[in-house]
Amino acid sequence: MKQEQLDLLAQNGILVTTSVKDKDIDDIDGLIKKMKEKNLLILDSKSLHDVLGFEYSEGDFKIIPSKNYGGEKSTSSPQGWVDYFNDRFEQLRNLLIARLNGNLRAISISNIKSIPQGGEVEIIGMILDISISPIKKYTIITLEDKTGTCKVISKNIGEELVKDQVIFVRGKKINDAIFIDEINLPDIPIKEETPNQADDVYTVFLSDIHVGSTLFAEKPFNRLVSWLNGSIDQFSEISKKVKVVVLNGDLVDGVGIYPEQEGELSIKDVIEQYNYLYEILDKIPKDKKLIITPGNHDATHIAEPQPQLDPYFAGKLYNLENAIFLSNPSSFNVVYDGVKRNILLYHGFGLMYYVNTIQKYNKMRNEDIASIMTLQLKSRHIAPTHGSTQIMPLKHDYLVIDETPDIYATGHVHNAFISRYKNTVLVNSSCWQLQTKYQKKYGIFPQVAKAPIVNLKNKHAFTLDFLNEEIGVFNGEKT
Ligand SMILES: [Fe+2]
Ligand SMILES: [Fe+2]
Repeated sequence: MKQEQLDLLAQNGILVTTSVKDKDIDDIDGLIKKMKEKNLLILDSKSLHDVLGFEYSEGDFKIIPSKNYGGEKSTSSPQGWVDYFNDRFEQLRNLLIARLNGNLRAISISNIKSIPQGGEVEIIGMILDISISPIKKYTIITLEDKTGTCKVISKNIGEELVKDQVIFVRGKKINDAIFIDEINLPDIPIKEETPNQADDVYTVFLSDIHVGSTLFAEKPFNRLVSWLNGSIDQFSEISKKVKVVVLNGDLVDGVGIYPEQEGELSIKDVIEQYNYLYEILDKIPKDKKLIITPGNHDATHIAEPQPQLDPYFAGKLYNLENAIFLSNPSSFNVVYDGVKRNILLYHGFGLMYYVNTIQKYNKMRNEDIASIMTLQLKSRHIAPTHGSTQIMPLKHDYLVIDETPDIYATGHVHNAFISRYKNTVLVNSSCWQLQTKYQKKYGIFPQVAKAPIVNLKNKHAFTLDFLNEEIGVFNGEKT
């Protein structure tokens, strides 16, 4: 900052910390105005990041956050939960209406009584309960909207349904129930690809680094960082074109996260864990932008959405000038050369609920996790079943998948895979921590030090393996 800019900030009663004194600010008047609007009196790395709205642009290359929970407070009162569920229902209802091109005549459940026997009925409702009749194996669903509940019945559902999804059904009224002819989930549309002349731009997906754990795979992680800064020849034509590196939660191992964790910690202070991570990430060239989001091991509340990393604990990371801090879940668009890619990030804590409750997924194979992510996309919700993860009851439900992502990335389960649903790339981004005692006890085998990479030009995807001296292409086998 120029001296006159520093003087102007001082005249406006704003204290400037040394960490930002050297930053170039184009619009100092705009910055002062925004700081006053937010009642901020100290300009440090965190407030600068917040006030500038995290949007990053360099030439025509832009990163624009599109979903980001800003940390507003929730009211965990009965009314708070009612407001939360109403918002969730309305958002999903609107997505269903859009999916069916408005081509529906859905009525409120309370109005079913005015439909004659045998008449056609269309409803949009939230699944309150699902059961299978013991003899004829009919699926019986109790649907709910703001006006009441009703039973809908089908012989062949043809869709994977779970409690609390919002669905559309069309059927015939017989006695007090609806016999289903058609059922629709909000689902995502296929994102059509149009040919483009854009350059190759790679995004690397990382998560679950678990710095501070004795099992942190530090050598492989440093190998990845060396590869990103051009010190390794293998695949260097790719590393040169990496412009975005995602760190999708569980950046550090935290403290007191799981039973007897202390014996597996090499750094026992969470601030020191973030400081150590800073030293490593600082070696990544600054033209590669870091998108940093929290997970369940990070120093914030576990209920979702989780806000961006808390500067009290992770303050050192805010000194990384190439870092953009977002919430969990969050999404952002990368825009360049006429290409626009939407990337949805979710750390993945809620994936385990479906691993544990849907028997066919309990082996946690890569295809099982991909199926759960597909279930989320079809439901247009990160946690379709209430209770699958802890929720902050906010007035706006950030867990609704309101945009169709080009890439949906998760972590948490420490698997490494790339899959696809429709034209959306599904990624689970491995981990940088060897098997813990806790994982061993539950038979969980992590896939360590793999980095899924997606070319934003054409959504081609592959995974590089950094576990051994020789970097290789990872074939996705789970060992
Ligand atoms: Fe993790
Ligand atoms: Fe996790």
